Amino acid sequence: MKNKREGKVIFSPYERGDAVKKVVAISREDVLFELRESILKGRGGAGFPTATKWTLVSAAISDEKFVVCNADEGEPGTFKDRILLLEYPELIFDGMVVAGYTIGAKKGIVYLRGEYEYMLKSLEDYLGEMRKDNLLGENICGKIGFNFDITIRLGSGAYVCGEETALIESLEGNRGEARNRPPYPVNTGYLGKPTTVNNVETFAAVSHIITKGGSWFAKFGTDKSTGAKLFSVSGDCEKPGVYELPWGTTINELLEIVGAKNTKAVQVGGASGICIPKSQFNRKLGYEDAATGGSIIIFNESRNMLHILKNFMEFFVEESCGQCTPCRIGNVKLLEGIEMIENNNYTFSYLNHLKELGKTMQVASKCGLGQSSPNAFLSILENFKDEIFNNGGNNGK
Ligand SMILES: Cc1cc2nc3c(=O)[nH]c(=O)nc-3n(C[C@H](O)[C@H](O)[C@H](O)COP(=O)(O)O)c2cc1C
Repeated sequence: MKNKREGKVIFSPYERGDAVKKVVAISREDVLFELRESILKGRGGAGFPTATKWTLVSAAISDEKFVVCNADEGEPGTFKDRILLLEYPELIFDGMVVAGYTIGAKKGIVYLRGEYEYMLKSLEDYLGEMRKDNLLGENICGKIGFNFDITIRLGSGAYVCGEETALIESLEGNRGEARNRPPYPVNTGYLGKPTTVNNVETFAAVSHIITKGGSWFAKFGTDKSTGAKLFSVSGDCEKPGVYELPWGTTINELLEIVGAKNTKAVQVGGASGICIPKSQFNRKLGYEDAATGGSIIIFNESRNMLHILKNFMEFFVEESCGQCTPCRIGNVKLLEGIEMIENNNYTFSYLNHLKELGKTMQVASKCGLGQSSPNAFLSILENFKDEIFNNGGNNGK
């Protein structure tokens, strides 16, 4: 990748097998201790503490457990997992082996985004090399009874299949639709067995944490958002690319680093995230403020915010799985509202109803897709109302 900023955590020195060799010499409890010390939160977007997830799967009683790597990377504007998969597979696969050891699983599955099929052969070749080095297979690194292997399965392009329960349905050969929760995958996951589903970058972070220590990791970032994060930066800037930055970096600082000029808005967290206006560029990237799975899309003064919003809502109408009413109908209604504004055929009272609908979707939708799809609608209409309603519009009837 042309622009890749290597920071001190994710891109710090690492050799294939480092974490695996270390982990077989310590106990599961020791691994969980390091994870707790690290305060690592899942990098897939929701920010669930990894130590808690693995503790739950580890404690679940079952004859079989699974480790699933979520490499679906479907959020618009996200491409950081692609770089890890292409250039740092050792970090991901070793992290999966560590997970297998910790939770007591024998099988790991990578759910690879369908569009990343071109990587499949090289990733499988890589797994073959790991088997030769006894980093996968039986009695891994001489640890009697520690058997673990990884297979790769391809997705077919549905955004919702990045949601962990829809992903599991898809892995089982079913239509990709979210499951009711509870039960949670930590108890009832793939094939009804306890399963940890983690993002690509989460596994990469684990490899470093096991090698360098949880407290080392926790030194970076902020109290509530430890470590560093990979950001996929796209849009109106001189140097789009993948950037490793400590959590707590402000949006202003990020814009400076990537050479963004005349920035009007920054979409943090992809289409399902929030749109931040210039007046809030001092906000910090992190779970305590502007949380994100890593997608940063930059818009300069030349952009029309209503067009951007329409583009996002068209995406959600297309990608809603249709299973629950708030998401299936709600996204269509929000898109219709945008078209009414475009056509100068709206009333503020109806738009207020749509805002209420958006808030209802956030709580009533069955999965994170419909819960987060109104975010852009609500934040763009609120933060860019002057542009949207005063530029040639009829200001509502
Ligand atoms: C619609 C939707 C799409 C998602 N897509 C992804 C994805 O592509 N990759 C990912 O890691 N997590 C994705 N997630 C989040 C996952 O459901 C889950 O939280 C994550 O894989 C857990 O891993 P982590 O704890 O390591 O973050 C998505 C969630 C939703 C609601």
